Amino acid sequence: MSRGSGLHVAIIMDGNGRWARERGLPRTRGHRAGAAAVRRVVEASPGLGVETLTLYAFSADNWKRPRPEVNALMRLLHRYLRTETAELVERGVRLKLLGRRDRLPTRVLKAAVDAEHATRDGDHLDLQLAIDYSARDALVRAAELLRGSQVPVCPDRFTHALSRAMNAQGAPRDVDLLIRTSGEERLSDFLLWECAYAEFVFTPTLWPDFGGEDLERAVEVFHRRERRFGGLSTRPAAAG
Ligand code: FPP
Repeated sequence: MSRGSGLHVAIIMDGNGRWARERGLPRTRGHRAGAAAVRRVVEASPGLGVETLTLYAFSADNWKRPRPEVNALMRLLHRYLRTETAELVERGVRLKLLGRRDRLPTRVLKAAVDAEHATRDGDHLDLQLAIDYSARDALVRAAELLRGSQVPVCPDRFTHALSRAMNAQGAPRDVDLLIRTSGEERLSDFLLWECAYAEFVFTPTLWPDFGGEDLERAVEVFHRRERRFGGLSTRPAAAG
């Protein structure tokens, strides 16, 4: 697949805690099962025409969770990065970290940077892990990058300049399809700028139960949608 021709799918992986509670297990077991679901969607993505996959692994607001849960999530992310890198290289996956880097535990940051380096030549899938991510924060930082430059007053040129500033900090191209699991229907400060024209698919499936077939269904729903980007329908009107 040549770069730029495939879909950008972004996923808010929600419902780990409820999955665990339903089984009488600690929440951290739900996160562990969630990491297995990450492996499944990474594996399925290239075959479904997904070129970029952005996963919301830890939001800037998730620091508010109890310390033991935050620590468990950081341990899990560290383990994923350390143990999956070889597999990612094998699958041609290029990994990139999105979000703030200055508040992450050193070993998590080091594992992420090592994984970015090891996978840099991957050309089957761009996997973006959003960790300590906040879209508002990303927008503020992009605006800061523009400060001092000749910010164009013309709205189109300003939009272009801001897009470039967002890209400069590793934010991806526009999202085509945004999926949120577990029945919740909100964006929770995820890719606010990039989702301007995204199609949304919400599914009641809890994240640890999500797999390649669920992703395939969501992509099918996406392909049935008509994207007009504010224009008019180009589909022939139904007869009668
Ligand atoms: C939301 O479920 C999920 C998270 C805050 C963490 C997401 C992390 C993973 C899927 C596992 C690790 C990720 C990688 C990339 C290996 P929740 O805890 O809010 O669930 P609840 O709403 O049912 O309580």
